[in-house]
Amino acid sequence: MMEGTRDSVEPAGSGAQPVATGPVPPGGVGRAARAAQRRALAGRYALLPLRLFLGVTYSYAGLDKLADSHYLAGAGDPQSFYAQTLAAKPHSPVGWALAPALHEPTFFGLLIAFGELAVGLGTLFGLWGRLAALGGALLSLTLFLTVSFNITPYYLGNDLPYLMAWTAVLLTGTPYLSVDGYLTGRAERDRRRGLDEDAVRRRIVLDGSIAAVALGGAGLLVGSLTATFVRRKPKATTAATASTAGTAAPSTPKPVAGGGSAPSVAVADVPVGGSATVTDPGSGDAVYIVQPKAGQYCGFSSICTHAGCGVNPPKNGKLSCPCHGSVFDAATGAVLNGPATKPLPKYTVTKDGDRLGLGPLQS
Ligand code: FES
Repeated sequence: MMEGTRDSVEPAGSGAQPVATGPVPPGGVGRAARAAQRRALAGRYALLPLRLFLGVTYSYAGLDKLADSHYLAGAGDPQSFYAQTLAAKPHSPVGWALAPALHEPTFFGLLIAFGELAVGLGTLFGLWGRLAALGGALLSLTLFLTVSFNITPYYLGNDLPYLMAWTAVLLTGTPYLSVDGYLTGRAERDRRRGLDEDAVRRRIVLDGSIAAVALGGAGLLVGSLTATFVRRKPKATTAATASTAGTAAPSTPKPVAGGGSAPSVAVADVPVGGSATVTDPGSGDAVYIVQPKAGQYCGFSSICTHAGCGVNPPKNGKLSCPCHGSVFDAATGAVLNGPATKPLPKYTVTKDGDRLGLGPLQS
């Protein structure tokens, strides 16, 4: 304690009394009061950056899914909602609950995309903020239990931190710089001018509902326009247009010698450095048939060995996982970058005339 100062001035509502232990210089109380005001203001808006981040991120995530031609492509496209859900099922503690999503992947895929958009907009505008945060928390929990559950160490997965962030917004609500804040302030003014409590509550619910319908309608419109006009074009699917990074369409199984049928693709659909996608009839997993060097063919499971996400098709000699950044060698399947530690399962590929057939799993 220095001579000529106060020990402290506690913020309002703390319950502690300021203790004067020496003479107060002119203007000292004013400075302390202003500092206390600044602290109170910072505390009031402490969660605003988090709220804006979550609102923008979830709005963007919803629109990004709607703009992605792979998202609703279905079985055979390893980047689709269906393939990612199928890949997550065996590793998830709630895998049994994913059956409806695999049965109606388009409905559930759209539900998640529009759900993220609704949660993001509600959080950004602070409209029914606690409900939006609850929706965000449930989405994060679902993704944690399906996509991220087996990630080790746990802090490399991003769904658990999102769940914690949503919990903070759920606890505080969105009382400032928000529609909720405006409605609450107006309700206070209504009470002061003598409106009875039922009428005050009716006004809050009615105007909140009108705002929710307007915001929901705007979100539906923007999402639908994005899905219709902004959707990114799929990559080349034919030999004539395939590039070195291209991926041909999933094949239909062709009859093979011996009576059974095995997935196969035309040789011309697998350019050097590119791939074609087939489905392993045993596991249902998508498999990339690749040609890393001219005349050298092999197959790799598209399921990342880290936590089961679908890896992207080969590009520049590598297969990258979008979930946590693992990178695999497109010639051997070996891990080039973690967190994955095991190589991608490799398949034999046989060449018969102008077709490439998927053989047995090697490793
Ligand atoms: S699932 Fe984690 S890096 Fe692929």
